[in-house]
Amino acid sequence: MLKISTSILASNNRIESIQKLNNTNSDYIHIDTMDGLFVPNTQMPINEIIELEKISNKPLDVHLMVENPEEYITQLENKNIDYITIHIEINKDINKLIHIIKSLNYKVGLSIKPNTNIEALIPYLDKIDLVLIMSVEPGFGGQKFMPETLEKAKQLKNYKKDLTIEIDGGINATNINDIKKYVDIAVVGSYITNSENYNQAINNLKN
Ligand code: DX5
Ligand code: ZN
Repeated sequence: MLKISTSILASNNRIESIQKLNNTNSDYIHIDTMDGLFVPNTQMPINEIIELEKISNKPLDVHLMVENPEEYITQLENKNIDYITIHIEINKDINKLIHIIKSLNYKVGLSIKPNTNIEALIPYLDKIDLVLIMSVEPGFGGQKFMPETLEKAKQLKNYKKDLTIEIDGGINATNINDIKKYVDIAVVGSYITNSENYNQAINNLKN
């Protein structure tokens, strides 16, 4: 069954959003951290992640859109985190970062931007748990889904059957049915956090 990771990026009250999500069928809380370098936006620094983790009863799914993930990862020891995802496009030693995430007992995700080919991921597929396909340019919530990115999900399943595929950006009730066929986890932000009833919105996506 499709899992939902709710992004609270676009919420105007993230604490209240997490309190509401605690009582829903959301599987994860998706944390979007941005450093103003990898993407032209700065969001959710480490102290905010730590505060939000304390009030969440859902595991976190941390998406690091930053040039230097190591400085973030090493401050996230012993948290209720399932996945830490870094971007393949950064100019850093990816194998070393995978090792650091694993040493903290978190599952490892690698993310690709819309213009990055899946070939870049191939050398790492045996070492990671999840691929996060960006279906918008990373940086902001509320953008339009790019349907051509879904092709990557289809191709990746052929490379590694047990790979978890996550997709992120512009997902709502109108495009969820296409996504469901190829994806295990959908990251959904504004469709849920702009709705009156979070659980109703989540159930609309799951059913
Ligand atoms: C974009 C973020 C996404 C995004 C999701 O850089 O990674 O998680 O905010 O929000 P919606 O669903 O509004 O596109
Ligand atoms: Zn994200």
